[in-house]
Amino acid sequence: MEECEKIRDVAELDARLTEPSDELVADIARLNGDIVILGVSGKMGVTLARLAKNAADRAGVKKRIIGVSRFSEPEARKELETHGVETIVADLLDEDQLRGLPEVANVIYMVGHKFGTTGSEHLTWAINAYLPGRVAEKYRRARIVVFSTGNVYPLTPVRQGGADEEHPTGPVGEYAQSCLGRERVLEYFSRRYGTPMVFLRLNYAIDLRYGVLLDVARAVKEGQPIDLRMGHVNVIWQGDANTIALRSLALCSTPPRVLNVTGPETISIRWLAEQFGHRFGVEPRFTYEEAETALLSNATRAHQLFGYPKVSLRQMIDWTAAWVQAGGPTWQKPTHFQEREGRF
Ligand SMILES: NC(=O)c1ccc[n+]([C@@H]2O[C@H](COP(=O)([O-])OP(=O)(O)OC[C@H]3O[C@@H](n4cnc5c(N)ncnc54)[C@H](OP(=O)(O)O)[C@@H]3O)[C@@H](O)[C@H]2O)c1
Repeated sequence: MEECEKIRDVAELDARLTEPSDELVADIARLNGDIVILGVSGKMGVTLARLAKNAADRAGVKKRIIGVSRFSEPEARKELETHGVETIVADLLDEDQLRGLPEVANVIYMVGHKFGTTGSEHLTWAINAYLPGRVAEKYRRARIVVFSTGNVYPLTPVRQGGADEEHPTGPVGEYAQSCLGRERVLEYFSRRYGTPMVFLRLNYAIDLRYGVLLDVARAVKEGQPIDLRMGHVNVIWQGDANTIALRSLALCSTPPRVLNVTGPETISIRWLAEQFGHRFGVEPRFTYEEAETALLSNATRAHQLFGYPKVSLRQMIDWTAAWVQAGGPTWQKPTHFQEREGRF
């Protein structure tokens, strides 16, 4: 394999994901009040909470960072507490537990349910569309940054370069429909109570332990054929996505501001596989051909507000290739980015 820059282990990966930028430190210094992160124990939340804590420390401000989840995986709780993030174990669907959470000025809403939707559609709708209304009642006096998804858009022609925020929504399948339900319910409460919010329509955050790049790299390495029908994607380094989420607290408004969050490139899956093939010295295998449409969004508005992501696509490819080559740990949580019918 070609020599390229490496992230050697999870400690170094986490250090990179949780290192605040000067812009984030400046924003956190100006932000009044504490931050609660709901749904903290997922793929993104643990590093988001640690990033917030590091930013507050570097800004020299006293700010409680409080992470809430059921903590189905208890190690996440230990990790957060070790790094100065307070934790509360709560099932947010339990009204008493929700009501018992501390009042704070800032909420990052990360709760979601995607995989396993098919066959348990009721649960997906409860978590993605009903729970946001309960949370909006509880936190009507806070500002709320909400993780939404690019799946609220339909598949669009690849030549258009992705749906911008003005593009009509058109969610495919029940998971995506329930996510649009989350936005609509929250917007209702934002207008009713004057609660300032931002909706982040995110497409594919990348960590080395999960993400589209990891999925493609592993398939290439293992000689698995790569389905090209969803032939193009957008990705963003998780540290950049989490930075945007925290900096968006300063942009909350009523009615909610909508922002697409992803990288600037429309990435060809074929090209991506060839990049990994080159680094591993193997020929990628493909099935089918690229379709005319794909799930893509245009995040130029977020780039104008926050600047381009700090980690480039080539950098992510190099890091992922080296991680896979070295057998670095992964979460066994495939993205299913290939899915065109919205069945998760
Ligand atoms: N990662 C991406 O590339 C991506 C792309 C588009 C959108 N998003 C959205 O961004 C958000 C964060 O992403 P993620 O990848 O970190 O999501 P994730 O891994 O699914 O994490 C969400 C967390 O919410 C918690 N949760 C679920 N039900 C709960 C309940 N009833 N009470 C308390 N906590 C509950 C779960 O932790 P416990 O089981 O411990 O409670 C879960 O780990 C999600 O809403 C996701 O849909 C992510």
